[in-house]
Amino acid sequence: MARNLTTTADLTNAEIEAIFEEASGYLESETNQKLRGKLVINIFFENSTRTRSSFEVASRRLGAEVVSLDVASSSESKGETIHDTAANLDAMGASAIVVRHKNAGAPKLLSKFVKASVINGGDGAHAHPTQALLDLFTLRQAIGDVRGRKILIVGDIRNSRVANSAIKLLTRFGMKVVLAAPPHFLPKRANVKTTWNIRDELDGASAIMSLRTQTERHEKPIYASLSDYAANFKITKDLLGDRDIFVMHPGPVHRNIDLDDGVLSDPRSLVLRQVHNGVAVRMAILSKFVLEY
Ligand code: NCD
Repeated sequence: MARNLTTTADLTNAEIEAIFEEASGYLESETNQKLRGKLVINIFFENSTRTRSSFEVASRRLGAEVVSLDVASSSESKGETIHDTAANLDAMGASAIVVRHKNAGAPKLLSKFVKASVINGGDGAHAHPTQALLDLFTLRQAIGDVRGRKILIVGDIRNSRVANSAIKLLTRFGMKVVLAAPPHFLPKRANVKTTWNIRDELDGASAIMSLRTQTERHEKPIYASLSDYAANFKITKDLLGDRDIFVMHPGPVHRNIDLDDGVLSDPRSLVLRQVHNGVAVRMAILSKFVLEY
């Protein structure tokens, strides 16, 4: 039976530690042939640049064959159900299928129809487990032991699968997560501390995870304009001052709305490190799910 990665809860802490150890090794060595002869299929029913290319690069660095299905040319637009599409791809002998879909729960549903391991590349506002894993990996690399450390998640948290997965994983590994956003961007129910004023929580924070306003998930514009949002929640060098706070963002960054130019080029920015580490972490995830199950 194949095993699937739909949320971070599918992995035990020990498995996550093992993935991180393997990923650290991949940071140093360029390529290997661990997945030679295996096929990885990316089906992205929703746009992506980073995540899709990260999985492609990760698959190739492991020697696997990789096929990426474009949403525009996929059969869904011709009326085929997603599980029929997946079953067809599965029949080509895929070992892993990476899925992104606008509907929460799509990867889990799909996994019922295929033999391959299904890896969630982001489903609706529900989960983005590989992003949360690469973020925890990056935080550990930057600050060492994360237990007891405070991280502020800032932005459109209610509509963000990145936030959803990060809150669960980072608290599970002992971090104090604080959500900073205007009221309509905060989740209706939060199990962690929340604030409407980011300034109140900056002291003592080790990191800020800034998130994009998910305009495509808003039924109507909530803020009069993105610049109104930016006035209160943009991360600037001025806001950081000389504090030792690392700044993260899963991308795509709304430059000068989420983060200003100065922060993006500041040594405290981990944004490109997240992308770099993402390939190594996804290599470790793919090799685990393909070879062990
Ligand atoms: C995010 C996503 O698509 O969930 N990007 C990513 O995967 N790195 C965040 C976003 O779209 O804002």
